[in-house]
Amino acid sequence: MRIVVLVSGSGSNLQAVIDAVAEGSLEGVEIAAVGADKHGTYGVERAAAAGYETFVVNFKDYAVRDEWNHALTAKCLSYAPDYVVSSGFMRIVGEEFVNAFDGTYLNTHPALLPSFPGAHGVRDALAYGVKVTGCTVHIADAGVDTGPILAQAAVEVLPGDTAESLHERIKVQERALLIRVLGQLAAGRDPRDG
Ligand code: GRF
Repeated sequence: MRIVVLVSGSGSNLQAVIDAVAEGSLEGVEIAAVGADKHGTYGVERAAAAGYETFVVNFKDYAVRDEWNHALTAKCLSYAPDYVVSSGFMRIVGEEFVNAFDGTYLNTHPALLPSFPGAHGVRDALAYGVKVTGCTVHIADAGVDTGPILAQAAVEVLPGDTAESLHERIKVQERALLIRVLGQLAAGRDPRDG
């Protein structure tokens, strides 16, 4: 199962996937390439350090959003992936991309969707005062953190939590969840079956 992973930031979820592949605990998963929407991400650096092909389709280089979307779609398609994984990729992709990877574009989100979608899922959950939040891996569509849910994990909010401390605990679960889902998909299983 060939995957392209898209990142915008530190890429700690990506690193977990890289490590799992290296350890042989993600049998059948091949990282075809890692891409970013901007230069200088630690995620791309991590991928390059692990010897993977990397690319940047820099959002700021395109005057028109659809042109960026077209370039990203073409670049991802060039690797003929079975799945594209948005792992901390902070851009909403357009229709062309979603159609090209219909049902095969995965996203991880640090909240229990459909609650708290968007770029500040952890902060928003904390501000709302929920006692339990978590993370979601889902098939992404053209919306903001919408599309069929594949798997979720719950994380308790602790007294004194900040968005940072809570996000760190969520990310521990998020990495494990993403690896579990990828392993299941590679084995031909539907993660929704548990
Ligand atoms: C993850 O929690 C992801 O769901 C969110 O941002 C975080 C990315 O972390 N959108 P990293 O880049 O994998 O370290």
